[in-house]
Amino acid sequence: MLKNRVFVIYLLLLLLLLLLLHQSFSIATEKNQCTNSCGEISNIKYPFRLKGDPKSCGNHRFELACINNHTILDLYPGKYYVRYISYTNYTIRIADVGLQDGNCSSFPRRSLSCTPSSYEWKWYMCSSQLYGNHMSSPTVTILDCTKAIDSGLYVDTSSCFDGVELSNFSSTRGRVYAMINASVSSVETACTIKHMAMIPWWVNRNDLRSYAQIHEQMSYGFELSWLQKACQMKFKGWCMLCTIKPTNQICCEGKYL
Ligand SMILES: *[C@@H]1O[C@H](CO)[C@@H](O)[C@H](O)[C@H]1NC(C)=O
Ligand SMILES: *[C@@H]1O[C@H](CO)[C@@H](O)[C@H](O)[C@H]1NC(C)=O
Ligand SMILES: *[C@@H]1O[C@H](CO)[C@@H](O)[C@H](O)[C@H]1NC(C)=O
Ligand SMILES: *[C@@H]1O[C@H](CO)[C@@H](O)[C@H](O)[C@H]1NC(C)=O
Ligand SMILES: *[C@@H]1O[C@H](CO)[C@@H](O)[C@H](O)[C@H]1NC(C)=O
Repeated sequence: MLKNRVFVIYLLLLLLLLLLLHQSFSIATEKNQCTNSCGEISNIKYPFRLKGDPKSCGNHRFELACINNHTILDLYPGKYYVRYISYTNYTIRIADVGLQDGNCSSFPRRSLSCTPSSYEWKWYMCSSQLYGNHMSSPTVTILDCTKAIDSGLYVDTSSCFDGVELSNFSSTRGRVYAMINASVSSVETACTIKHMAMIPWWVNRNDLRSYAQIHEQMSYGFELSWLQKACQMKFKGWCMLCTIKPTNQICCEGKYL
């Protein structure tokens, strides 16, 4: 009887020891094996994680991939290079993987714009917050026109696309233009919309006089916000309004469980 009891106590102690060992081991792997840098992005941390890292790293909703030394965000419209992650204003700056720096003939693979129906992709929202104001990224619309348009709003792209085959823009006889924040009424009937892309919200349209300048901004990337999801994760529920306090703390107003 006594022998039995000693044996049970022994067993329990052993179990406890194993449990402790296991815990300290998983803490060690968590610390050592979460990749925090890939290419130009050197601040990958919670809630972001890299594909292939241990499950304990970051949050699976914020998974990024590291491919050929580039941090890639896979959104439903396409794949994007991650240019910058901000943990103070909860934004991520991304650019379509078709865009090459300094090569204005390179072109976004996917058309993308912030219309109300595509206001949100996965956990990312189109507008970012700055001191409580919502900043929206301007849209670049690529137009294929059957005649030359003489208007300051239409930026000629021929210096970049001349000689480059843009198979999807049947511009053999027409001309291809770029327009910032085109509205339906500002698009001439001779033109059809071929593609849409986005540029940073702080860019002033009057500073973009050439298509090369527009391309530079597309390649620099536009911001999406991950504030809403960060709020949901922190406050465990849906927030009507998430705000960033001057101390960088996030605040949830109007919470629904
Ligand atoms: C990856 O990118 C980093 C930062 O841009 C650079 O320092 C490093 O040399 C690159 N490595 C490779 C293998 O290209
Ligand atoms: C620039 O981009 C175009 C279109 O993708 C490509 O055909 C061309 O080879 C690129 N030029 C350079 C120098 O990489
Ligand atoms: C977020 O931070 C980055 C880097 O400091 C800055 O470039 C960007 O303008 C900021 N965006 C907002 C919406 O505050
Ligand atoms: C473009 O449109 C957005 C959304 O309507 C607006 O917030 C932004 O100020 C406009 N930008 C320019 C450069 O006209
Ligand atoms: C052209 O359109 C096809 C089909 O819509 C698409 O698969 C292809 O990627 C497009 N090419 C370019 C250069 O946009």
